[in-house]
Amino acid sequence: METLFSISSNSIFSPLQNPKASTFSAPFSSESKTQNWVCLKSSNCNDLKGFKGLKMMSVVKCLSSSDEVGSVENGVKRKKNLAVFVSGGGSNFRAVHKAILGGDVNGEVVVLVTNKNDCGGAQYARENGIPVIIFPNSKGEPEGLSSNNLVAALSTYEVDFIFLAGYLKLIPSELIRAYPNSILNIHPSLLPAFGGKGYYGTKVHKAVIASGARYSGPTIHFVDENYDTGRILAQRVVPVLANDTAEELAARVLRQEHKMYAEVAAAVCEERVIWREDGVPIIRSKANPSHYS
Ligand code: GRF
Repeated sequence: METLFSISSNSIFSPLQNPKASTFSAPFSSESKTQNWVCLKSSNCNDLKGFKGLKMMSVVKCLSSSDEVGSVENGVKRKKNLAVFVSGGGSNFRAVHKAILGGDVNGEVVVLVTNKNDCGGAQYARENGIPVIIFPNSKGEPEGLSSNNLVAALSTYEVDFIFLAGYLKLIPSELIRAYPNSILNIHPSLLPAFGGKGYYGTKVHKAVIASGARYSGPTIHFVDENYDTGRILAQRVVPVLANDTAEELAARVLRQEHKMYAEVAAAVCEERVIWREDGVPIIRSKANPSHYS
């Protein structure tokens, strides 16, 4: 029996600030396409193995008003322009940047945003020729931009996606509106546990240890207007050992953060993030495109 799938419109592939970023990569064979909708048909449910909940896929609106599927220029998919936000050492930023330099991520860090001009992440950016923007404006950082000026600045860099990597300030609603479903954050616990205001740095790991939880690990999630509440995209699990200090647990989690952020960056830049009907984003496997995680 033929099954018709349709996929919905909220997608990470349409930052308002960058019309070039409006793309959608069909996970299954596309049988028909109108200007605004991609309709996906499958007569073989094996196409969808790994997807127990076939009902979960719904009509997905094509984000591009053009007839192109995917942002292809001269037969080559355009690199995604990334802005990374940091407040500290920026080891996650470095991990993503190294994955880009190694050819594992089809993207480019076009700008680094920080609230601390002299933090390790900003220094690394300058050493690597990446422009640095200070945000927000504060007593300590009078050069910092306002929210509206930040949105305008990111637009000039044609930013497709924003990766928060240890950025400790709340993201203003102006930015969230300008980049719907296009801002990711990494948090060092298995959300929704041990997240929210006040849960940052070693405080997270101390709370995990004190709770008696036997497992922890990082979460990458989309960003909404509250701390750590946006849709979860990826997680990794690490054990919490009986004699762990917060520092030991943090180091174990951080090693997984670096791997996971590079892998998620690759998926995002290759347009392998798909939104399930219930609003949960999932990642299509590169090695096996019928598998999702
Ligand atoms: C990481 O643990 C991340 O999960 C959290 O902030 C820390 C940033 O570390 N959001 P680094 O600056 O990437 O080394």
